[in-house]
This record gives sequence, structure tokens and C-alpha cells, in this order.
Amino acid sequence: MAVWLWCLFCLLASSARHDERATEPHVNRDGTYPLAFSTAWAVLGPFQAGTREGTWGADPLEYLGGFRALQYDQDSHFRSSLPTNGTAKWSIVQAKQTTSTSTSANASLSISYPDVDWDFLKVVYGWAAVQYQAWARGQIVVTGNASIPVVLYTDWILEYWVDDVHYFGGDFFTFRQAPAVLHLSPGTHAIDLRLVRDVRALGGVNDPSIDVLLELQKAPGALELAKPGILLSDVVDGKLATPIASVILRNSGKHDVEIIDIQISDVRGPFPSPLADVQVVLGPNARLTKSQTSPPSKSSLPRTFLVAGQTRPVAFNISLQTQYASSIDCIITYKVGNHRPHLTLSVSQHLTRSSIYAPHKFTYLHPGGMVSYAMLRPPAKNATCHPRNATSLPILFGFHGAGLEADNGIVAHALDPVPDLCAWVMFPTGVTPWSGDDWHNWGFADVEYAVHSIQTWMKSVAWQGPDIDVGRWIVTGHSNGGQGTWYALTHRPDQIVAAAPVSGYASIQKYVPYELWQPMDPRRAAIMGGTLNSYRHEMLMENAQGIPVLQQHGEKDDNVPAYNSRFLSQKLFEAGTNSSYYELPGQGHYFDTVMTTEQLVRFYYKYADSVETIPRRLQDFTFVVANPGDMGSKSGIRVLHLEDPGQYGKVVVNGHSIQTSNVLSIEFDPNLMQMSSITLDGQELDVSMSTIQSGAMTASKVEEGPWKIGDLSASQGSKIYRQGRQLGAMTAILRTRGSFIIRHQGKDTAHVALQVSRNLHQYFSADSRIASTSPASISGSGNVISVCIGQAPPSFHPNFPIVAGATAVTLRDWRGRLHTFSEPSGLAAAFLRPLEGEQLELVLWGSSQRRLAQAARLVPMLTGVGQPDFVVLGESASWRGVEGALALGFFDHQWNVTSSSLV
Ligand SMILES: *[C@@H]1O[C@H](CO)[C@@H](O)[C@H](O)[C@H]1NC(C)=O
Ligand SMILES: *[C@@H]1O[C@H](CO)[C@@H](O)[C@H](O)[C@H]1NC(C)=O
Ligand SMILES: *[C@@H]1O[C@H](CO)[C@@H](O)[C@H](O)[C@H]1NC(C)=O
Ligand SMILES: *[C@@H]1O[C@H](CO)[C@@H](O)[C@H](O)[C@H]1NC(C)=O
Ligand SMILES: *[C@@H]1O[C@H](CO)[C@@H](O)[C@H](O)[C@H]1NC(C)=O
Ligand SMILES: *[C@@H]1O[C@H](CO)[C@@H](O)[C@H](O)[C@H]1NC(C)=O
Ligand SMILES: *[C@@H]1O[C@H](CO)[C@@H](O)[C@H](O)[C@H]1NC(C)=O
Ligand SMILES: *[C@@H]1O[C@H](CO)[C@@H](O)[C@H](O)[C@H]1NC(C)=O
Repeated sequence: MAVWLWCLFCLLASSARHDERATEPHVNRDGTYPLAFSTAWAVLGPFQAGTREGTWGADPLEYLGGFRALQYDQDSHFRSSLPTNGTAKWSIVQAKQTTSTSTSANASLSISYPDVDWDFLKVVYGWAAVQYQAWARGQIVVTGNASIPVVLYTDWILEYWVDDVHYFGGDFFTFRQAPAVLHLSPGTHAIDLRLVRDVRALGGVNDPSIDVLLELQKAPGALELAKPGILLSDVVDGKLATPIASVILRNSGKHDVEIIDIQISDVRGPFPSPLADVQVVLGPNARLTKSQTSPPSKSSLPRTFLVAGQTRPVAFNISLQTQYASSIDCIITYKVGNHRPHLTLSVSQHLTRSSIYAPHKFTYLHPGGMVSYAMLRPPAKNATCHPRNATSLPILFGFHGAGLEADNGIVAHALDPVPDLCAWVMFPTGVTPWSGDDWHNWGFADVEYAVHSIQTWMKSVAWQGPDIDVGRWIVTGHSNGGQGTWYALTHRPDQIVAAAPVSGYASIQKYVPYELWQPMDPRRAAIMGGTLNSYRHEMLMENAQGIPVLQQHGEKDDNVPAYNSRFLSQKLFEAGTNSSYYELPGQGHYFDTVMTTEQLVRFYYKYADSVETIPRRLQDFTFVVANPGDMGSKSGIRVLHLEDPGQYGKVVVNGHSIQTSNVLSIEFDPNLMQMSSITLDGQELDVSMSTIQSGAMTASKVEEGPWKIGDLSASQGSKIYRQGRQLGAMTAILRTRGSFIIRHQGKDTAHVALQVSRNLHQYFSADSRIASTSPASISGSGNVISVCIGQAPPSFHPNFPIVAGATAVTLRDWRGRLHTFSEPSGLAAAFLRPLEGEQLELVLWGSSQRRLAQAARLVPMLTGVGQPDFVVLGESASWRGVEGALALGFFDHQWNVTSSSLV
């Protein structure tokens, strides 16, 4: 474990100044503690909830004006589909535990409804039945004279109110990365919790209680470390495996903070080491050599601001030039507002040493602009490699399950029993313990960046051993990592030598059915389903054709039922793939050697040493594409655009003859095709000429017309196309290149801007810069989230089909007809818009502050919610869910609203 220390006047004390808060008493004069939670909570429930539906609202109490408008009354009855007699009531529940110390207060609640016949409901609706919602109201009591800055952790909670302030996001999976910062005045504060039960978080087998924990921690009211220590590579052969490092900082004060500088202040070890041996490199271009005499050159640093309440990771480079260091200390210099003198914060980190051949941590920059890490085990000296292929070895991935860090021994040492594999072994994190978004957009980008950062690692450690073939992947993983293995297999078929998904689930919908969502029009259901197409592995099994697959699952698994693997095993067979399925009799979800059973060990050795050429050249195969934005090629074929992005595209290849459906633009790798002509949907295309100039050949359909050689933009002039990273539903916003940029208007939008930043960090460990609206504020390569009340900022696209004005939203449908939405109770909208190149903007718009909060719920955060490209919400969505949307759907390749949308 990392050690850390607070250090406001640390070693470089010359410019440091303490602030007042430390002089506050920690215990009140009467001996009570300054912070406490009430022990009695007023609870109202249970009500039906669909899998991940809470994001859409779908809260029945909103029909009555919201829980916050209701007062405890033991005689009132509320209609509800779950309890006996169809009525839910208030009850008073004693907290399971409340504790206070001089600096903190905790409350844990356990809410259960023994009067509901859960077992019978489960027989009918399965695990969907034990996901339900309720509300609880308690109090925070603050004593003493002064307002106290605190952070509030909300384990397993999605949404809450403190007094009159709404917080959406909470900490549904207990990441504890970005608690909200509050400044609590003396007195009593009401806290209302929306409790939403989720099987993936709280389980499906035992008593379906909702167990949550609240924790208030007194905060310094200034810049502080949000997480102890520095994220650093391990030290191999006396050097950091890679130079990039990061600290996670939180501003718990009331004023914005700017980071001025990060410097090494000390390196400790058994041998004294001069400071000059250490270099800190900050920012993309600046390189500062540590020296106590020359002041840091501020102008060369990227300006890093943390607005009041914000948590941000800050990246910097360190290179150790002394072999014997055991720990390092850094000093972070910052200023509050425009004040001088500067303040400092210090952070210390023990160094972890590792043999270069053992799994060790190395760091790199995620495309989202923050530092991530993976555990890497380079090929052993005695690796048993086929002599013909010993110079460039494949990579074997081990994807971890939900709730685990990759540096946990359960993950990083799972393949220790197979030390001499002829492969690079990597355990990526996917950024968070839930692999970002379950190894999808955010998590999978992490995997690909980790692979490409091995080159940096090789330089940094002066690697002399075998090279890596970054295009040859053997993929395995357990649980959520088994699901990630399916994702890699179905989305990167041309890179996969072989795949072994272990105890994985088929898709979010197969894991816990969506049966209990609020009812909706089938067109809406189709749009909602379409947003999750890319993650339904059961629909993509044909992409595994030609790839050896080994499946393994415990027969008695009550966490991820073996049904998932049995089902996909059948689908693989029907798709004509070569797979084997091993069900382990009597075994559950996990046991110590689950990743090194006899068949898996044989599998790893066999495919690590395989000499089969990758990508495979297949004669007859089918390729299914849900979203070209996250899909690689199969046998050299890539789909670049779908006609309707809400529907699967299909490519069926029989030698020279190719049939497509719902495909608008397609690319061929001539090296794999090796033919002079192809027949595309019955149309003969000469591909001999065009293959000569470039590495790839593209064919596109123009205005529903015939196939032509060339891409869409070439054939249709200078129009703005939706392309590459912009493709997909609203989750495409996660394919950012650089930190997110959250721009907003000012005071009225600041709370939501901060909430978006907090949720992006909580759920993805992402970095975001919060800026007020001005042209300069969107300079940067990252995707932009625009937060606005009335009048959305101008669109980069000159003729964008959605215009959000002061109180109304106007939408141009696929026939060119204009629809204007406006409601007396106000409107909310969330939609994507293009920026230059493949950069993307997500507009969150409300006609009022309240409506803006409704729009902001839709920012991608939890997997399985299913946000389409655009949504216009009326008030009733807060209880009717998706049925309360006035319009929703997709944009096509020209950013027009598709005919499959609902307007
Ligand atoms: C259901 O309603 C009946 C008739 O009003 C009442 O006797 C019974 O106690 C109610 N049951 C519950 C669990 O509230
Ligand atoms: C509050 O809960 C957290 C998380 O369970 C725990 O680490 C901490 O010790 C608790 N604090 C008190 C005062 O009980
Ligand atoms: C509250 O404020 C008064 C007046 O400023 C002061 O005399 C008293 O010591 C304070 N009490 C506490 C508990 O800080
Ligand atoms: C860190 O150093 C690498 C080269 O080793 C450089 O590419 C990168 O831009 C630097 N990053 C920062 C944040 O200074
Ligand atoms: C390679 O070395 C490891 C121990 O370092 C040993 O366990 C393994 O059996 C060796 N493999 C071969 C093929 O010699
Ligand atoms: C392995 O060796 C064979 C035969 O020399 C060669 O065709 C193939 O490209 C090699 N594969 C790799 C990954 O180096
Ligand atoms: C299927 O896999 C088995 C075992 O690896 C292999 O012997 C066989 O050739 C494969 N068949 C096809 C069609 O790839
Ligand atoms: C579709 O988009 C293109 C490019 O912006 C535009 O020229 C065309 O009018 C749009 N079609 C409709 C029906 O809105």
C-alpha cells in the first residue's frame, strides 16, 4: 500500500502559507461531534424499477411532485406494483449503524421488504424482480459555529438531495473516486436518498435488501489529495518502467485553484541520492530539471484549474536516475483564485520494485488524457517458442472481473502457473475496477493504448528480449473480463489468434432482463435496444468464424449463470465456428485456479506458439457490425458506415461474391482480398486499379444508388460527415482524444457542469476541464460537453437538424419537416453534434435549471442505460421513463435524423 502524508508547509516552506481551517476545534465544547447522521430514517417504497432504468427518471413518486414534496405519514398509501394489496407505505427504519468521530460521520442503512413475495416474483420475472426502488429521508446534523467543508461518499446510491440541491450520479458501484464536496452550515440538513437496487451491484440470490452507506468526511476546504500517493510505474532494474505519473487532486474549497508546478522534493533510499538525479517533466512539451535555485518556468506548463468542488487527475513525467530510491516525495504548488503567495501540498509514494520478468505495473496516457496502468509480464527467458516465430511474440490478455484492480494478485498473478508462455502477458485495467464501461468504449480504448505503449516501455527499460507483434492477440478473462473477451473477439476478429472467455455473461440484457422497465411504444423499445447493439455478443457470434474459442464456466455459478456460456456455445455452433465448451461440475463463479485449469493451460501454450497467419484469409464468412465506430475488420473487410445506425449491418462473403445489408460504405484490404474484381450486391466492381495507390480500397453507396469505388466524402463533396469516433450512440462521446471539455454559461449551470465532471471521474476516472462559454474554451482536442439553459451555443455543423432555443426545441426530420417542441412545464434535451474532424460535442440543454438537471442524467455513465444520439424529454419522463421522451433516435452519416427515429 502506498503511504502518504499531508504537507501544507513542506520542505519548500519558503512560499508556503497555512490557512485558517486547521484552527477549528475538532470536538464541540459540549463533547458532541460536529457531524452526525440521524439514526431514524423515513422510508417510502418499494416501487418497480427496470435494469439501469433509473437514469431515465422512471420514479413513480415524480407523478406526485417528487419524494421531496411528500411528508412522512404512516396512513398514506401509494400505488405500487410490487407489495401486497398493491400499495406502498412509509416506514421508519433505524439505521443499521451510525458513527461519528471528530472528523467524520457514517450511516449505513439496510432496507428490506419482507412483505413482498420476492421468491414468487423471481419465478415469474427472474432477477429483474429483485431490482426495485425506494426513497429514504434522514438528516445531517452539524453543530458548532462555522460552516464545515465536507466530502460526502454515497456507496451504492445513484441519486440524492441535500436540502434543496439535487445530485445525480452518486456512487452506484462504490468507486469512492469523486465524492461531492459540500459546505454544511450549522444546523440540520435534510438528506433524501433514492435507493435503486441493482443485481450486478448487490446480487440476485440472497435477501433482496438495499444496503447503502453514507460517509461524511471533514475536508480541508482547500486543495487536497483525492487519493493517497502517486500513480507510478514499478521500478525494474533501478528505473521506473515508464515515466508518466499522476496524482488525483480535489478542490474542497470555495474558490477555484490553479496548479502552478509539480516538483520532486525528495528521494529517499538506503543510499543518499542527490536531487539532481531526478527530473520532473510536466506537460506535453516542457521539461524541467529539478533545481532549487531556478524557479519553474510557468509559461511552459499547461494551465490546470480545479473549480471549487472538482476532482481531477494531473499527469506529469518522472524519470528516476538513481537506482536505490525507495520512495519519492513531490510538492505540488498551487494558487487559490488570484492570491499570492502560493500554497503547496506534498505527496509521497513508496516505490515498488519488480523483476522485469514478473508482472509489474507500467503507466501510459489513456486517450482521455489521464494516466492509466496495466500489469505487464514480458516473455520469460526460457519461453518455449516455435523457432520460426521466436522474434516477434503475440500478446496474451487477461481481462479482470468487476470490482477488481489489475494490480490485485488475484488478477496479476493468475497466470503464474504458466511462466514460460511464448507471449507477452498483459493484465489491463480498462481504467477502473469495472473496466470503465465494461471493457467497451472507454475500457477497450485503454486496452489498445496499453498495447501501443509497450514500445515506450521497451525504450524505457532498454529491453533486449523478443519483440512484440501487436496484431496477434490471445484473449482471456474472467466474469466481466469474460464478457470483455467476447467483446474483443467480436469487435477485433482480425487480431484474435484465439479467445477463451471464462464465466462471462453474454450481454447486459441477458445478465438481468429488462422486463420491468416502464412500458413504452415498440418503436421506442427498438431505438433503446439499438443503442446497445454493439454489446449484445449473442448477435455477433458469426464474427468468431475461423477463430478457435474455448469457453469455460462453473456449473453452479450463481453470480453469472452458466446459462450465458451454454447459450453462446450454442450460438457459436450455429454460426459455424470452432469452439469447445467446458462446464466445471459443481464449481461456482470463482476459485483460485479458475484461469489455469488443464484445458486453459493447454490452450495458452498451444495458441501462444501458433504459427497461423493473422489476420486469417477466409473464403466464406459473415461479418455483423453494430457500430462501425467500435468495430475492427474481419478478413480485411471493414464497415465504415451503416445506412441506419440503429440496426445491425451484415456482410456475407462467399469468395468473390459479397452481399451486404444496411451497409453504406465498406473498406477492403487488398492484401487479404487478392482479387481483381468482386461482386458487391450483384454489382461487379473492378478493384485492380484502385488497390495500387493506397493500402485500402473503399466502396460506398451514394444517395441509395449503386456501389462506387471511393469513400462517401469523396463522392459527395464538402459536406460534414459523421465518421470514425463520432459513430455510435451517445456513448460515442467517450471516444475522446484528450481531457473532456465541459463548457457552461456561469452561475446557473455551474452545479450541473461540476456534476458531469464528478460523474466522469467517478465512473471512468476521466479528466475534464470546466470552462465558461467562450470560443477559446473549446480549444483542445477532447470531446466537448456543453451545458446550457436556453439558447444552445452555435453549431459547428451549419445546417444541424436540432436547434435548442430559449424555451423550445426544433427538429428537422428525415423528410425535411420541422417539428417544434415546447411544453408549459419546460423541456430538456441531450444530443450529439459534430465538431471538426472526429471531435464530438454533447449538448445538455434545459429550458430551466430543473430541466437541465433532467438532461444531465443522460450523460453516459452506467452501461446498459441506452442513450440514443438525441433525446428530447418532457416532464413526464421523470415518472414514465422513456415513454416520456418527446423525440429520440439516431443521426445518419450526414447528421440527418434517421427515418427509424421517433419524432
Ligand atoms: C391488504 O388489504 C386488506 C383489506 O384492506 C387488509 O386487511 C390487509 O391487512 C392488507 N394487507 C397488507 C399487507 O397491508
Ligand atoms: C465509515 O465507513 C467507512 C467505509 O466503510 C469506513 O472505512 C470508516 O472507518 C467508517 N468510519 C467510521 C467513523 O465508522
Ligand atoms: C462560537 O462563536 C462565538 C462568537 O464568535 C465564540 O465565542 C465561540 O467560542 C464559538 N464556539 C465554538 C464552539 O466555536
Ligand atoms: C512524458 O514524456 C513522454 C516521452 O517520454 C512524452 O511523450 C510525453 O508527452 C510526456 N508527458 C508529459 C505529460 O509531460
Ligand atoms: C522456465 O523457468 C521457470 C522458472 O523460472 C520454470 O518454472 C519453467 O518450468 C521453465 N520452463 C522451461 C520450459 O524450462
Ligand atoms: C511465423 O513463421 C511463419 C513461417 O516462417 C511465418 O510465415 C509467419 O509470418 C510467422 N509469424 C509471426 C507472427 O512471426
Ligand atoms: C477445430 O479445432 C480442432 C482442434 O483445435 C482442429 O483440429 C480442427 O482442425 C479445427 N477445425 C476447423 C474447421 O478449424
Ligand atoms: C441531410 O443533410 C444534408 C447535409 O447537411 C442536407 O443537405 C440535406 O438537406 C439533409 N436532408 C434532410 C432531409 O434534412
